[in-house]
Amino acid sequence: MAYVSSLAPGYAVKGKPHKTKTGLEIPLEINKGDNDFYGKTINDLIVNVDYETAERLHVKIADKDAKQFPVPDSTYGMERPKLRKPAKKTNYDFSYTENPFGFKVTRKHDKEVLFDTNDYPLVFEDQYLELSSAVPDDANLYGVGETTAPFRRNNLKQLIHLPNNNLFILTECFYILYIIERELTITCFLLYSYGAHPYYNEIRDGKAHGVFLLNAHGMDVFFAEGRVTYKVIGGILEFYFFVPKDGRPNSVLEAYTDLVGKPFMPALWMLGWHHCRYGFNNISHVNWAVDGYKEANIPLETIWVDIDYMDHEKDFTFDPVNFPEESMIALSKKMHANSQRMITMVDPALSTNDSYPPYERGREMDVFLKNNDGSELQGQVWPGYTAFPDWWHPKTAEFWEYEITEWMKLLDLDGLWIDMNEPASFCLGSCGTGKANTDPQIQFEMDPEEAAKVHAQEQIALDAMGTGVPGDSRNLLYPKYAINSGGGNLSERTAPMTALHYGDIPHYDIHNLYGHAECSLTRDILLKYKPTERPFLLTRASFAGSGQHVGHWTGDNHSQWEKLKSSISEIFNFQMFGVSYSGADVCGFFLNTTETLCTRWMELGAFYPFARNHNTLGTINQEPFVWDRTAEASRRALSIRYSLLPYYYTLFEESHRVGTGVWRPLIFEYPEEETFLDNDVQVLIGTDLLLTPVVEENATSVDAQFPKGIWYDWYTNEAYESTSAEEKITLEAEMEHIPLHIRGGSILPTKTPEYLVTDTYASPYTLVIALDKKGRAEGRLYIDDQHSVEQPETSDITFTYKNGVLKARGEFGYKDTEKIGAIKIIGAQEELTTASYKGDKVKVTKKDGALVAEDLDIDLSCKFTVKFR
Ligand code: NOJ
Repeated sequence: MAYVSSLAPGYAVKGKPHKTKTGLEIPLEINKGDNDFYGKTINDLIVNVDYETAERLHVKIADKDAKQFPVPDSTYGMERPKLRKPAKKTNYDFSYTENPFGFKVTRKHDKEVLFDTNDYPLVFEDQYLELSSAVPDDANLYGVGETTAPFRRNNLKQLIHLPNNNLFILTECFYILYIIERELTITCFLLYSYGAHPYYNEIRDGKAHGVFLLNAHGMDVFFAEGRVTYKVIGGILEFYFFVPKDGRPNSVLEAYTDLVGKPFMPALWMLGWHHCRYGFNNISHVNWAVDGYKEANIPLETIWVDIDYMDHEKDFTFDPVNFPEESMIALSKKMHANSQRMITMVDPALSTNDSYPPYERGREMDVFLKNNDGSELQGQVWPGYTAFPDWWHPKTAEFWEYEITEWMKLLDLDGLWIDMNEPASFCLGSCGTGKANTDPQIQFEMDPEEAAKVHAQEQIALDAMGTGVPGDSRNLLYPKYAINSGGGNLSERTAPMTALHYGDIPHYDIHNLYGHAECSLTRDILLKYKPTERPFLLTRASFAGSGQHVGHWTGDNHSQWEKLKSSISEIFNFQMFGVSYSGADVCGFFLNTTETLCTRWMELGAFYPFARNHNTLGTINQEPFVWDRTAEASRRALSIRYSLLPYYYTLFEESHRVGTGVWRPLIFEYPEEETFLDNDVQVLIGTDLLLTPVVEENATSVDAQFPKGIWYDWYTNEAYESTSAEEKITLEAEMEHIPLHIRGGSILPTKTPEYLVTDTYASPYTLVIALDKKGRAEGRLYIDDQHSVEQPETSDITFTYKNGVLKARGEFGYKDTEKIGAIKIIGAQEELTTASYKGDKVKVTKKDGALVAEDLDIDLSCKFTVKFR
């Protein structure tokens, strides 16, 4: 059955809708006709419409009896804004029809209908909710879920499913689903899906709006045949619509993150280069990597140690032979002595070996997830049988705080990497209970026949525990509407959907929030541990709003050219979801990388908002220094990243304050240029830098599009004037070179790149002024102490350049001595020979086609003017 709504009777408005404090309440009643398609029809519903702000509308369709499980109004779900009155003026109109009930959201000023459910009767059952809206036939939709699909999720008839999953074995599963009645072929991009972000941004005729379904249940989202359809297996339909007046995609992100939370502000060091691998054989191997970077003069800020350090992969322990405790402490000391950093992995699942103290402590406090019969749930992760902390248990905060804090202290760590928190488990549902001290083999490492047998036993055991939980008639294991979760069974490689959280909440209702809750709690713990320092946390699983707590890497990719390319749209997605500190495993995780692939990936990865090389067990070393060409390309690209640190930091501050991305697709900055709708290879870093990476094997040139205006080559200062965004220019890009252009009209704050972030920042600033056609430019610089949570003194400086005069104005709260040492002007039409500042004159010289004033000593703690003659 394609769309249930074509058979369903829908609902009718019952009685009188009435005004509420913030909008409208509309009671609904089911019409007569067929029902109970995939669950039990809920007869009475309440629609609450809240005119929350000028650009944000909330439409909540819920069961009258409030039995369905909504996303909790808490930090482990999403805290709803507390409103007392409706917005005075709105950019949208809401209207509805009475029978069958449907609604429309219209943009006021041009009467554009943005969301319209009227042709599709609503379906609201306990385990199946279906709602569709008409959208243009070839809509430009971006977002929804974590995927490696192209950035624009247009009418390729894509289906997106949103159960957070750890299907890293099935990662290449591209499958075709035939919907028999309509013979509609749906190509499903079913790749690792660790995060649930049911949010999209649509661009229509150059104007953008956003739609967010706040629901954490498993769902399929279809963009096909002029409609967007949500098929959800539980909860309620709680929609938010974002309609900014100016229709700018960035304003939509601003409105979205006003609701779900602004991205966290990283400390400056976090923007340095990170290195990791799964499969460091021993501590010497790690030291070899750290030293190798240094010898090759490739910047390294942070070394990461994966589960390799653990004793039998148990959190908070050390492999006594390969990673003895003292060697890990020594590594941390060495890193800190060199002003570098160290991070380790911590998985949520804890070994149930009963001589393992963290497990013993957790069991004592009764904080682990339960089976539906009340026994402790045993999953299977790296250390064998494991128990999962139940973040919703009132004592888990205390339990986790102790384990995390002791660990941080012991190694004096700079941050944590929280992985496998979908939660991942290697068996189907519960692996049983009471298996504490046995050492199971991991299924995907078994002979396939053996694995199939074990799997069949697990299936029997799972079924034997029943498909529901006490007091709940739903079939949680096999809901009738089987979302296309790829793993088949919803409990595949995770906790069973029948597992019980504190308060008897079935895992079915909370699964997609598990990682999100861990992020929120662990960040609070890190903040308690060092209250003044910005915490570092990187997560794999996420939900809408996780970006306020953590960064994210896109999980287990492959060392393949197409994954190099798709990393760009994956990062674009997360920028849009409010997780601006995001990146992908550079050089690829699975499979052996190659010199050329790793070279191109290091070049691109050097510009990722979160930049880290990482690979897996059994693959070759892919430290960038192992190949000469990769080393050279890495030095070149990273020296650019480090020189741009003030620019990146300023962008992160903007992202944290406003919600916009650090990396931006061209179409989000130039929505009126249709030619950019599908461009998901070129990257705008903020508004002023355009990166054009090579993502094809053996290519030594690359086609680029440029927004209209002047763009300067970063390396040669050569100007290119674009008169049409459609035009494609071929750029030379030999192996060690990644094309990068500066927008004419911008001023970039830069530093002199050094090996470390701190040393780089110790150098005075160089302002790079890239002039537009009128000889003007503008830019911004944000300064604070680079690491503290509270910032009593910050500077927020706007630079403008016009008629040979550079002015710095704004706020100058940051009082430590910060200086500008040089100014470089690109694209000046007249011969400038001197720069004068406070009566002193400095010579301006010509270098590589630019004008440069060096040996300046401009104080950045107050406003200033520099005149060029
Ligand atoms: C899975 C993660 O995605 C990967 O990055 C990590 O290396 C392994 N777990 C081992 O911890």
